[in-house]
Amino acid sequence: MHISHLDLSEHVRKGAIALFQARMSDALNLEAQAKQAHWNIKGRDFIQLHAFFDEVHGVVEEFVDTLAERITAPGGVADGRIQTTAKSSKLYEYALGTRSGEQHLKALGAALA
Ligand SMILES: [Fe+2]
Repeated sequence: MHISHLDLSEHVRKGAIALFQARMSDALNLEAQAKQAHWNIKGRDFIQLHAFFDEVHGVVEEFVDTLAERITAPGGVADGRIQTTAKSSKLYEYALGTRSGEQHLKALGAALA
């Protein structure tokens, strides 16, 4: 842990950093899932959902950045490595065969929830 000038004990800072890191791994996974939907949607409502999934990706990307900064402010190291994300995220694996808009909406909705 790095030095921090925040008025919080090391114990509290470590706990907060661990929680933020866990949520950042989930958010990075969610970000990738939104792109998975954006790239692979087929069929009815393609244009609207293709754009919508990219919008979701953009919003989640901002969350990731905020979470990363909440990790570094109290002295932590934001770990955005893909290996860490794959190991730590608690989200369900996105099914590779997801095709229709309805299937993508259900899969992404479940991850968001
Ligand atoms: Fe695109």
